Amino acid sequence: KDFDFGLVGLGVMGRNFILNVADNKFKAFGYDLDPEKVSALIEEGGNPDQVNATSDLSTFVGALSTPRKIMLLVPAGKIVDQVIESLLPHLDQGDIIIDGGNSFYTDTDRREAYLKDKGLHFFGSGVSGGAKGARRGPSIMPGGDKEAYEHVRPIFEAVAAKYKGEPCVAYLGPKSAGNYVKMVHNGIEYAMMQLTSEIYDLLKKSADLSNDELHEVFSSWNQGRLQSFLVEITSEIFLQKDDLTDARLVDMILDKAKQKGTGKWTSQNAMDLGIPVPTIDMAVSMREISALKDERVKADELYDRPAVQHIEKAELIELAEKALYFSFILSYAQGLNQLAEASKEYGYELNMSQIAKIWRAGCIIRAGLLADIADAFEANPGLTNLLLAPSFVKQVQETLPAVRETVAFAAKSGVPVPGLFSALSYFDAFTSSKLPLNLIQAQRDHFGSHTYERIDREGIFHTEWGA
Ligand code: 6PG
Repeated sequence: KDFDFGLVGLGVMGRNFILNVADNKFKAFGYDLDPEKVSALIEEGGNPDQVNATSDLSTFVGALSTPRKIMLLVPAGKIVDQVIESLLPHLDQGDIIIDGGNSFYTDTDRREAYLKDKGLHFFGSGVSGGAKGARRGPSIMPGGDKEAYEHVRPIFEAVAAKYKGEPCVAYLGPKSAGNYVKMVHNGIEYAMMQLTSEIYDLLKKSADLSNDELHEVFSSWNQGRLQSFLVEITSEIFLQKDDLTDARLVDMILDKAKQKGTGKWTSQNAMDLGIPVPTIDMAVSMREISALKDERVKADELYDRPAVQHIEKAELIELAEKALYFSFILSYAQGLNQLAEASKEYGYELNMSQIAKIWRAGCIIRAGLLADIADAFEANPGLTNLLLAPSFVKQVQETLPAVRETVAFAAKSGVPVPGLFSALSYFDAFTSSKLPLNLIQAQRDHFGSHTYERIDREGIFHTEWGA
């Protein structure tokens, strides 16, 4: 009964996470219905007094010290509820269940209330960083029951990624704050991935960069202000040889992107909150368009495309670097704006600077840029939109001519860059003191007497148009 930490779900993430816990001198016990996963963990763990596992639930629960700390790393959805139900008869009052998966935030709120009634603690915690992150140090985003989190804190702080020695984990706020922040993290992840793929497309089609050259460009960018995990792995991807043919693997992969739903949830919820996140929306839409492969192939035959315009390699690389940097900033700006609003709406009490800080290492969207973002929110904790931070004005301004040129060039060449275009249009709209939506108000009042406000006097007005 002396194991410090229990983990349910010994898939890739679970196995890596539990080994990380054991490396950090906590005794960890795993549970999975699949005996093969159980024996694989025991074998890899080496010392059964440090890390052990079972397919028997009562052995699992019985091995843990109280209050038991049991983390679930199972697919989001019904399985989480099923695992909770199966654990219930074995648990004691005060035990703690942590959901480390990408659960939808309202599910977390429901589960917390349900388990509270039974005298159990439950909280949701985002975990980012993929398999390697889980093994060597993920970014961890816990929320919910603070008292329960305190019991788990030493373990999470030990296993989390470190940024200059600081653990990339922090208690984020009450209720489902942890899962919500992780959801938006994933929305930003979708946007950054879409933007990277657009820049790749342009470099390849308009300046004929080879995979070796693409590797060089992305790895040199990764040494500069674009330094980030996604740029780093992108540079590696171009070098990977295919096992089955002589080609590079990236050229043999079908252009249909899958998704598990977190990006879509981010967009859906942003709509509910009335917060525009068009670059995230566009990233979701592009995965959907990518899935329509058969129709795309037919449509491609029906329409002529403009001849792709060519441009000097060095010139396009310089434009593309600025365009990517600008649109990464805009992706964070939109996602963080959504978090600021969600914090008010759902009472999450989020500390935006702290969120940027725990994203600086371990997670998929980690990037050098996040240190500047953390500073901007620290300087002004009430900041809602990064574009309003004085420290960002100069760096955004400096990229703009290149962004406009890149978008115009792509449009003339028929290369789709909707993510980049959405970021630029969002920027142009957000920085316009006057938009043409006075006309929309006039139309609404014309056809439906929906009324309008005026620029020169207070009040609500209606006009009998054309009268
Ligand atoms: C992470 C990732 C991870 C997510 C994958 C796949 O932070 O480690 O966000 O949680 O599962 O990114 O997501 P999609 O299948 O939706 O692309």
